[in-house]
Amino acid sequence: MSNQEIVVSGVRPTGMLHLGNYMGAVKNFIQMQHEYKCFFFIADYHSLTTHPTPQDIKSSVKQVFAEYLACGIDPEKATIYIQSDLPQTAELYMLLNMNAYKGELERCTSFKDKVRTQPNNVNAGLLTYPVLMAADILIHKAGKVPVGKDQEQHLEMARTFANRFNRMYQTEYFIEPHAFNYGNNLVKIPGLGGKGKMSKSESEMDAIFLADSPELVRKKVMKAKTDSGPTEPNQAVSEEIQNLFDLMKVVSTPDTLLYFEETYKNATIRYGDLKKQLAQDMVAFTSPIYERIQQIKADEAYLTKVAKIGAEKAYESASKTVNEVREIIGFKKVW
Ligand code: TRP
Repeated sequence: MSNQEIVVSGVRPTGMLHLGNYMGAVKNFIQMQHEYKCFFFIADYHSLTTHPTPQDIKSSVKQVFAEYLACGIDPEKATIYIQSDLPQTAELYMLLNMNAYKGELERCTSFKDKVRTQPNNVNAGLLTYPVLMAADILIHKAGKVPVGKDQEQHLEMARTFANRFNRMYQTEYFIEPHAFNYGNNLVKIPGLGGKGKMSKSESEMDAIFLADSPELVRKKVMKAKTDSGPTEPNQAVSEEIQNLFDLMKVVSTPDTLLYFEETYKNATIRYGDLKKQLAQDMVAFTSPIYERIQQIKADEAYLTKVAKIGAEKAYESASKTVNEVREIIGFKKVW
């Protein structure tokens, strides 16, 4: 298998997955695990930059881990592990840090954002966040990294660190990682608040979380923002209503969507009916995942077993890389 066929992606254990995350990222991972050698991990080292309590770390790692498994990441196909179970990552990070410069790290957009938003906690881990991310990727010598646009600069830095290492030691050891996605991450998943895409930072009620109970999903959809309705046929569709149609595109049948679009066009639409139908289809979509999350979270023995198997598989790939890197650097004891 060439390294171009190796996929790595990390997810930060910050809060729960919502429908937008599912359609934009997780669904891709599920497809990729059948076609590539995939490593998916929970980036718990990265999350330390914001100083979570031990209890927070434990519960949020458990939550995302259960959610990814519930969505269909198959531990027999992909390697799914927890970053801190792989201390080789920390070693490679330290080694790469020697070749990462203060100036370039300070210019990183995500760092500058943090300096602005959390001026009282500008720690070194925040500054070297892109180096840790590069270590995550280079440790498996992955060529493909499924991430969103917001991670493009970090990926570019990973390429810089890989190339710099190669130049310094006159080797072609690391390959360049590149962003990789199927087209379907372009599907638009709007929030329920009437404006913009689904986001957990908007309000509690804006996003549909996969871990929301069916009752809560129904309640959120029924409270979705609408407008006062079309007063005559063929009126332009407002953003609020278009958003509900867009959500229907994801969870309802094409016939259902068409029916409501038609009733909008001839100005006979009833928003109560639209939301009732959307709520029903949304619940049908999310409730099997919701139930699996509950089951998996309750089965700690299973979670522990899957984490252990993942860590072992990741260890194989990571320890090979770190040993080879140590040798290239000159740490091998052959005097
Ligand atoms: N920085 C990524 C994010 O915020 C998470 C991440 C950490 C990651 N290490 C990675 C993604 C390695 C891809 C590959 O979403």
